[in-house]
Amino acid sequence: MTAKILDGKGLAQEIRAEIKVEVKKFIEENDIQPTLAVVLVGNNEASKVYVRNKERACNEAGLKSLIFRLPAETSSKELLELVRKLNADASIHGILVQLPLPKGIDEKLILDAIDPEKDVDCFHPENVGLVSQGRPRFLPCTPYGIQQMLIRYGIETVGKRVVVIGRSDIVGKPMGMLLLQKGIGGDATVTICHSRTANLVEIAKQADVLVAAIGKAEFVTADMIKPGAVVVDVGMNKIKKDIVDENGEKKLVDKLVGDVDFNGVKEVAGWLTPVPGGVGPLTVAMLLKNALTGAKRQAAK
Ligand code: GUN
Repeated sequence: MTAKILDGKGLAQEIRAEIKVEVKKFIEENDIQPTLAVVLVGNNEASKVYVRNKERACNEAGLKSLIFRLPAETSSKELLELVRKLNADASIHGILVQLPLPKGIDEKLILDAIDPEKDVDCFHPENVGLVSQGRPRFLPCTPYGIQQMLIRYGIETVGKRVVVIGRSDIVGKPMGMLLLQKGIGGDATVTICHSRTANLVEIAKQADVLVAAIGKAEFVTADMIKPGAVVVDVGMNKIKKDIVDENGEKKLVDKLVGDVDFNGVKEVAGWLTPVPGGVGPLTVAMLLKNALTGAKRQAAK
């Protein structure tokens, strides 16, 4: 079997086009431009790229983006002051503090300080609690994007066995929670595995839908996949890889790979997301959706 590709990039473009229409309508009706504040602290190269992508996506969809770039030496207190200022600014509807933060900054302190009504990442304990109770204010961007992908590709989750590999607060735990909820894109039987799980291979092999979010390059191999399963790869790992170039010479090059061994798994899975071009673009699209949701909620008050 050769897996069909779940085209996250193409789907994200579709979703962004839908959001653009919604944003235009919202502006016409309310004379308010939905505005997202993004805070980037320090010099993490990957974060710089992610933030630029978010800025571009906002602008294309008609949202306003304000980027706050702070030096790596910024203290928790200074960052907290900025968050409080953004909370108090009624013209800002969403706040995202890009992670990871430099060492020395108290990440929990900062994230907990974001006004839950502006918490477009859905990281605040209040928003996490609302998601777990099935009455979300926002949905966490990456799991939300994956759920939309399953729904829009017509992949049934009701009664299916879903295995999530990875228990992070950003992806693993909320992914399990969304697929567990009653309703469209939910009603699955969910197992969350992690680095201490016994018999991981046997559990993974039972999955109708497998979500890999463990942060280990090409961790999920073909022997872990039930034939025909849907495999969603959340990983983004930079590795050095041996290739043979066009002149037949062996070279060591930088390569971006997921948590799934794409070439091996595609021979067994029914559906598979590529890296890049799979889950990543959907995360950005759902961030825009959440920023618009924030603006709508605040305008309704
Ligand atoms: N860094 C990597 N992914 C994310 C994300 O979804 N939100 C934030 N704030 N930082 C990240």
